Amino acid sequence: MPADTFVAKLNEQIGNEFAAHQQYVAIAVHYDAETLPQLARFFYRQALEERDHAMMMVQYLIDADADVAIPGVQAPQTGFADIVAPVALALAQERRVTDQINALAATAREAADYTSEQFMQWFIKEQVEEIATMSDLLRVVERSRDDPMEIENYMAREHPGDAADDPTAPHLAGAG
Ligand SMILES: [Fe+2]
Ligand SMILES: [Fe+2]
Repeated sequence: MPADTFVAKLNEQIGNEFAAHQQYVAIAVHYDAETLPQLARFFYRQALEERDHAMMMVQYLIDADADVAIPGVQAPQTGFADIVAPVALALAQERRVTDQINALAATAREAADYTSEQFMQWFIKEQVEEIATMSDLLRVVERSRDDPMEIENYMAREHPGDAADDPTAPHLAGAG
């Protein structure tokens, strides 16, 4: 059985991942309404990744016979001042999630729950990638804030489709 302290925190994190999902949907819808389809597509896809993270955590708790209580989430921000603001918000969110993921690994280690600590390793690696991606994107939108088509071209070129399946990723609840 995973440590009770870890289980409580992981249940909270499921809420944080679903909140990230809602925030990315809100950003995608904002860009979609502004007719920036490449930015919209990128954030719709990021949203799905956040949902997947939540469902990986759900599956871990189910596999470990631990309690799962799907939490409610705070409403996301839906209004943005300019083309840069959503990406800045996304980067801040990824930094916050990274701290939460690291705290989860620390909680598992403190409780000598090494199975849960190992479960968190994939998320630690994932956060490194997400921060790098979002930092790059922030640089691009800041540089080309007056030329949205340049940003759209960058997205089409650098983020053309779905990321390849990661065979090391934890299993998702409901994915068969
Ligand atoms: Fe996530
Ligand atoms: Fe993320």
